[in-house]
Amino acid sequence: MEPIRAIKGAPDILPGQVELWQTIEGVVRKWMRVFGCEEIRTPIFEETRLFARSIGDDTDIVGKEMYTFTDMGGRNITLRPEGTASVIRSFIEHSLDQRGLPQSLWYMGPMFRQERPQKGRHRQFHQFGCELIGARQMTTDVYVIWLFDLITKDLGLENREITLNFIGCVESRERYKTELVRFLDRVENLLCDDCRRRKNTNPLRVLDCKVPGCWKAIHESSEFPKITDYLTFEDLLSYDTIKDGLKRYEIEYKEDPFLVRGLDYYTGIVFEMNRPELGAQSAIMGGGRYDGLVRELGGPDLPAVGFACGMERLILAMRGKGAVSSKSLKTYVVIPPDQNGDSMAMTCAAELRRKGHIAIVDYLQRSVKAQMRAASKSGARYALFVGPDMNHIDVRDMEQSTQETMTFEAFLNRLADQGDANT
Ligand code: HAM
Repeated sequence: MEPIRAIKGAPDILPGQVELWQTIEGVVRKWMRVFGCEEIRTPIFEETRLFARSIGDDTDIVGKEMYTFTDMGGRNITLRPEGTASVIRSFIEHSLDQRGLPQSLWYMGPMFRQERPQKGRHRQFHQFGCELIGARQMTTDVYVIWLFDLITKDLGLENREITLNFIGCVESRERYKTELVRFLDRVENLLCDDCRRRKNTNPLRVLDCKVPGCWKAIHESSEFPKITDYLTFEDLLSYDTIKDGLKRYEIEYKEDPFLVRGLDYYTGIVFEMNRPELGAQSAIMGGGRYDGLVRELGGPDLPAVGFACGMERLILAMRGKGAVSSKSLKTYVVIPPDQNGDSMAMTCAAELRRKGHIAIVDYLQRSVKAQMRAASKSGARYALFVGPDMNHIDVRDMEQSTQETMTFEAFLNRLADQGDANT
């Protein structure tokens, strides 16, 4: 039989890799809690029209990338390509606004997009994100960016610059669209077929087309109109308030007039964090304000702002920077080969585990030499050789290559001092 392999673009996360994921998940949970955000878990599939309605029919995500199928009940179903639409659907369905406003809801989990797999671009990938619903104040835009900044700072990421643009209220955008279409008319012969169509249906989408011809026609033209030149006075004021807030929190940013983001629901600030070292897939996080979506999906007229971070890309950005090391100290308890499961060593291993420390034992009754090889391969910090009683154990520090004799009690205290317990 042909070997069965994982679907391309949907990689396994293997032992040895999972630990880093757990560390990131822990840091995310910590900061979400600190900011008073509550976790929400929505299904990974939803009715297709939820995504079409919120993300927009003209976007690449809805037009080209969704995993859509008809289920046995004849329903049109899609694997979620992002989290925002589902969070808002759930918020409306369960009248969560009744719990008081504003609310910050956060989520973490797999998302699905049928993109061409490459480094940093997968078909199943993971996001964590936060949606703050029910506050129009621009301080909340700053708050979600600051939250993301603190998470990535805690994970050791340096040079955390945010890229910003402001795509404004309906009035600003209508004014801008007229000007943009005039410009696009002038470069029409350089645009791809999709963009020629989008020029008339949804011209902002042309700005995030990845086809090289379109990119060049827009980015290299001196005539390209900037949206920030068409903002209403109120929009300009809001944009300034956000930039001032970012400065107050010492968050570095740069402005990019081309940034519109690939989803239709944005109404104000849009932002991304890009890591140039990731090449073509440089955005590790994206977000913005979307004041019309709750109403659009049938809920009350509530503003919202949020972000989502791609965890695979975050890991790529962290790699090589020594950004994270797991704090857990493994102890490999060496079992004398001639003893059975009732040995002192097994008692020690059991006690370590009861206290929440990671203890590995050899169940194969191998030689001490073979167990030491296994201990070193497992990445254990300590190897424990237990004597006839608990008062004389030899503790080998695998990192320092030193060995000393102590009581089991003293060893437990040492682990406690080093802060190792999964509690
Ligand atoms: P997005 O920009 O489509 O925004 O995705 C957010 C992040 O998910 C990206 O910056 C990227 O890191 C990651 N990502 C997207 N597609 C892939 C892929 N194929 N492979 C790996 N990583 C990927 C959203 O999803 C919005 N829901 C963000 C938001 C939340 N806006 C407001 N609230």
